[in-house]
Amino acid sequence: MIDKVQALKEEIQAFKANKQEELETFRMKFISRKSDISVLFEGMKSLSVEEKKKLGPALNQLKQSAQERFKELIGIVESTKTASEGSHMDMTLPPIGATIGSMHPLSAIKNRIIEIFERIGFNVADGPEIEDDWHNFSALNFPENHPAREMQDTFFVERDPDIVLRTHTSNVQTRLMENNQPPLRSIMPGRVFRNEAISARAHCIFHQVEGIYIDKNVGFADLKQTIFHFAKEMFGKHTKIRFRPSYFPFTEPSAEVDISCNICQGKGCNICKYTGWVEIAGSGMVDPNVLSNCDIDPEEYTGFAFGMGIERITMLKYQIKDLRLFTENDVRFLKQFRSL
Ligand code: DAH
Repeated sequence: MIDKVQALKEEIQAFKANKQEELETFRMKFISRKSDISVLFEGMKSLSVEEKKKLGPALNQLKQSAQERFKELIGIVESTKTASEGSHMDMTLPPIGATIGSMHPLSAIKNRIIEIFERIGFNVADGPEIEDDWHNFSALNFPENHPAREMQDTFFVERDPDIVLRTHTSNVQTRLMENNQPPLRSIMPGRVFRNEAISARAHCIFHQVEGIYIDKNVGFADLKQTIFHFAKEMFGKHTKIRFRPSYFPFTEPSAEVDISCNICQGKGCNICKYTGWVEIAGSGMVDPNVLSNCDIDPEEYTGFAFGMGIERITMLKYQIKDLRLFTENDVRFLKQFRSL
């Protein structure tokens, strides 16, 4: 029997396979339940204990080498298969172009906003998305019972003392002013969070860009000129702006900024609801209380601040009517921004 084992071993090593059928022959002869090796195992039953001890390990080794060789042969057959399939390839066919992704419109507009402000001397600052009450609210002069602090607007991470998901990028203003003395000229893009039902016009996660300029003798005219410059760069040189008096706890005076509707040039359309104007930002002169809260002397320094929604600017720029499109990851939507 040991001779038979040796003979099979040699046969296994010498076996060659290039085709699927040859693999099958190998499998039948050396692997399957009816293989020569299985027959030998079967034959063991009638042997004496002594003989079994001798033959057992040799047979096991044989079985293992059969399995290893089988794997090798499968590899060989697979590789010849692909090589021969390759020979059927029509090399004259034009190649299928690789599909390239595109920049998300919100990223493209954020980058554009940064570019516009960087050219006029603003740098980019960053701050945390999980924020304490002081930086998100108190330092910004929010009264204790201001509605923005209520549950309907704010996602609370912890209560007493409150830790929140920042409701606006104005928290970075606070941090910037606390840690640096003027002159300060920064923009602060980032994600913000509000407990709002998701609809075509609102989302619980969106993006803002905050801007701040603090120095000696900064006035409202500087704010107007900066926003005017931005609007023309972003929406075209014929864009007009107007300021509407408004209220924010952290600015005094405060104003909302409208631009002439970039779709109808102010003639009236459904985007501007036939008013000729669309809102793009909140703004104002930084309240002296906010400056003192951040250890900046309001007698010496003044400044302006503004905040705008990146979704809003992007929707106006590309006439996107539903905010949910930004987060649905529908490639048909995203593909339209390939050129950005
Ligand atoms: N934080 C305001 C908001 O989320 C936007 C804003 C308004 C920011 C006026 C400012 C500002 O810096 O001066 O609605």
